[in-house]
Amino acid sequence: MSLMSLEQAFPGRLLAGAGSRSSLGALAASIGQRALLVSGGRSLESGGFLEEIREGLAAQGVETRLVSVSGEPWVADADGAACMAREWKADCLIGVGGGSVLDLAKAAAAMATVEGSAAEYLEGVGPRKHPGSSLPWIALPTTAGTGSEATNNAVLKGRDDTGKAYKKSLRHQGFLPRAAILDPELQAGLPPSLAIPCAFDALSQLLEAATSRKANPVTDAFVFEGLRVLAPAMEKLLAGEADLDARLALSLAASFSGIGITGAGLGLVHGIAGIAGAARDIPHGQVCALLAYPAFRDSLAWLEKAAASPGEEAAGAREGLARFTRIGAAFGRGESPEAFIKTLEVWTQKAALRSLSAFGFTLADAEEIGRAATCRDSLARLGPDAAARILASVL
Ligand SMILES: [Fe+2]
Repeated sequence: MSLMSLEQAFPGRLLAGAGSRSSLGALAASIGQRALLVSGGRSLESGGFLEEIREGLAAQGVETRLVSVSGEPWVADADGAACMAREWKADCLIGVGGGSVLDLAKAAAAMATVEGSAAEYLEGVGPRKHPGSSLPWIALPTTAGTGSEATNNAVLKGRDDTGKAYKKSLRHQGFLPRAAILDPELQAGLPPSLAIPCAFDALSQLLEAATSRKANPVTDAFVFEGLRVLAPAMEKLLAGEADLDARLALSLAASFSGIGITGAGLGLVHGIAGIAGAARDIPHGQVCALLAYPAFRDSLAWLEKAAASPGEEAAGAREGLARFTRIGAAFGRGESPEAFIKTLEVWTQKAALRSLSAFGFTLADAEEIGRAATCRDSLARLGPDAAARILASVL
């Protein structure tokens, strides 16, 4: 861990608690009068929340226009929403939905301030560098998973010149929301089949940031506390007993995971998940949930071997093992790497996940995706062969 320098962006304000969405109207009115409201549509409308939110904004003199999206956002969605924000002269955006909705609101807020298509500014895709300008925006997550309300990037789907799909990030420290409102009542209609994979996304992000080469005292403060808060709430969720307290705990853990990955980066699970998610239509949380246990199990084996070897990697591996031990303690299951891995195994079994093949993945896919995958910033330096093996094990 280097203490030479670090930079960490945060949401401007964090409000958390049952009913905290009632603060939205006054908060938005302090920012602007014309809010482009980005939403996932159906589930919120059916719960009556969207109408309630629009009425709350209107009562404070904030006019709204609605953009609805379904599924993960494409470059064209971001360009379209940004165009609408510019033409209508919106002075702020509000994202109310899951990670995909928040990513779209974040990308549209950023793209409304610059020329061209989002594709031109995406990491590893376009030639342009975004200056970090953005319309102010407010995030109201309705799932506890990606922590997009606390990350500096928006993931967008697109196609390269050959027509192959990709998922890439629009990223800048200037993209964080003016405020994030974590109201667990907004998750009321979320069935376990959606809530569980989301929780595994947050869990994976916390674990990857906790075991990253780029971990620092700021990210550690959030990710280890996030893991401690998440553990009992995950138990309740998997038992079908997630009450408002548990949902709020999961929301906090998700936001903390966003802070963690913004500062410390990601590891093998997301090094595979991004590529798998572009290759086939599968929810991001589902991939994370399937990969987390085998990826960290194999990472532990790598760390133990590397720590006992005389090579250059021994010091990093010992640091990794110490961090695995701290995770076991944060889970409240004993201070050992084995306690961490055993807990993850039990949770994965309880989640009773659908396998990758249920989403159309084949052994050939596993090999191709594995070849392209990397372990990103992980202290355990597993390579493409390991990634392919891990994928094949959850087909
Ligand atoms: Fe994620």
